[in-house]
Amino acid sequence: MPIRELVLVNDPRLRAQAAPVEQFSAELARLAQDMLDTMHAHHGVGLAGPQIGVMRRIFVAHIPAPESEEEEPLHPRAGETFVFVNPQITRRAPETVEGEEGCLSIPGWRGLVSRPAWVEVAAHTTGGEAFSLTADGLLARIIQHEMDHLDGILYPDHITERDKLWPIETEGEPPPVELPTKPPAV
Ligand code: NI
Repeated sequence: MPIRELVLVNDPRLRAQAAPVEQFSAELARLAQDMLDTMHAHHGVGLAGPQIGVMRRIFVAHIPAPESEEEEPLHPRAGETFVFVNPQITRRAPETVEGEEGCLSIPGWRGLVSRPAWVEVAAHTTGGEAFSLTADGLLARIIQHEMDHLDGILYPDHITERDKLWPIETEGEPPPVELPTKPPAV
């Protein structure tokens, strides 16, 4: 279960379009496991193919379960592991909500991003089985953030106000991050 090297911001691979997965194979299941291991090693809640240099439409997600019974779960589906292959958003909420995001490919930064409050997603498992899922809250945010990665979009692309993107304490200098000069088309 190797942990893969992360692709970091300003690498052109994070700006490229990922291609659909065509082979549903044991190799794809191993890739998903590597992605989950890499995500957990970096304490992330989601990871998309391009973030490890795999230019395919696949992402994984996992919201940590509470560590004790007293702790409130971050989401009703906390503790579940999700793998989405060739995902498509089939419906989205008309209303947006603002929430905090970070990205394993953009260490040292956090931002406030407005996104639809819920989404319905159709996708496949690594075995090629179709499924759909409706998600709200943190899971909806993760799904939309990861799906953006498959189209070369990073969360700061959604932020136009400087005070909605801020550096956090990390080892070393945070990498430079550009804000868009105009809001992206939705
Ligand atoms: Ni990300």
